[in-house]
Amino acid sequence: MSLTSPISTTDAAGRGVRLEIDHVGKVFGVETDKPFEALRPLKIDIQPGEFVAVVGPSGCGKSTLMLMVAGLLEPTSGTIRVGGKPLTGAMTDVGIVFQDHLLMYFRTAEDNVLLQGVIRKLPMAPVRERTRELFDRLGLSADAAKRYPHQLSGGMRQRVSLARALVLRPSVLLMDEPFGALDALTRLQVRYDLERLWMNDRPTVLFITHSVEEAVGLADRVLVMSPSPGRVIEELRIDIPRPRPLELGEDPALVEYSKRIYEHFSRLGVIRRDGATAALGGRQADA
Ligand SMILES: Nc1ncnc2c1ncn2[C@@H]1O[C@H](COP(=O)(O)OP(=O)(O)OP(=O)(O)O)[C@@H](O)[C@H]1O
Ligand SMILES: [Mg+2]
Repeated sequence: MSLTSPISTTDAAGRGVRLEIDHVGKVFGVETDKPFEALRPLKIDIQPGEFVAVVGPSGCGKSTLMLMVAGLLEPTSGTIRVGGKPLTGAMTDVGIVFQDHLLMYFRTAEDNVLLQGVIRKLPMAPVRERTRELFDRLGLSADAAKRYPHQLSGGMRQRVSLARALVLRPSVLLMDEPFGALDALTRLQVRYDLERLWMNDRPTVLFITHSVEEAVGLADRVLVMSPSPGRVIEELRIDIPRPRPLELGEDPALVEYSKRIYEHFSRLGVIRRDGATAALGGRQADA
């Protein structure tokens, strides 16, 4: 994405770039007498336009990984390459969605999205047009666009932050539990909308989630992480044709993939078959 050229609203060519996470690990407090290994060095090679989901228990280092990929946190080891070039600071051609919407309370929904163009000094007409298109596709009315974040529902706010992430058609989209706070129906709808928006532009996606079904439902490839310190224990290629239906829950392939992932979590003690949930964070995996 050039920072000065107007954005196109019709370009359907894939925009994604290759994203290489090459033996990237994180130890917090390296200088102290109590260093903590949050993430074992891991290697993930994401192809241009690929949709990769990472699913893992709480505390295994998913957000740490995502912050490092965004260039907002320095890895202790390894290199991140974007389009073949080592990342040395905050990624710029990127859309990020966090679990909390992080919208500015003093700007309307629309102005929160437009701000992306304003801070980059872009010609605003195409940014406005793209914002309208995204609001329309995400089911946000013209009335909702004029409201302030506190006047919107949680689901609407999360859609606005998705629009904000996509407005400049970034080549990389990073999402950390973006739909965690949404009710089941809204979550279903936003997953459906996200897939279609992604299919249009094909940015490279790293999507982090606790939800096994969401990971399988959205991704081309799912990486399963162990409890802390996180490492990838399985990689599943998801062979479900796109676009995928709204109600994917009953799909036999989805059920089969999900079962396989739950088996790992069960083996690692993340979930137990007696109905209780084990303590999830902060312990070492032994598998
Ligand atoms: N700045 C920090 N300093 C020290 N420890 C940290 C820091 N940030 C995260 N950690 C620790 O690193 C581990 C991984 O944290 P992280 O937030 O990446 O987990 P997560 O997989 O995203 O969890 P969740 O699913 O609950 O969001 C946790 O034990 C956390 O306490
Ligand atoms: Mg997290």
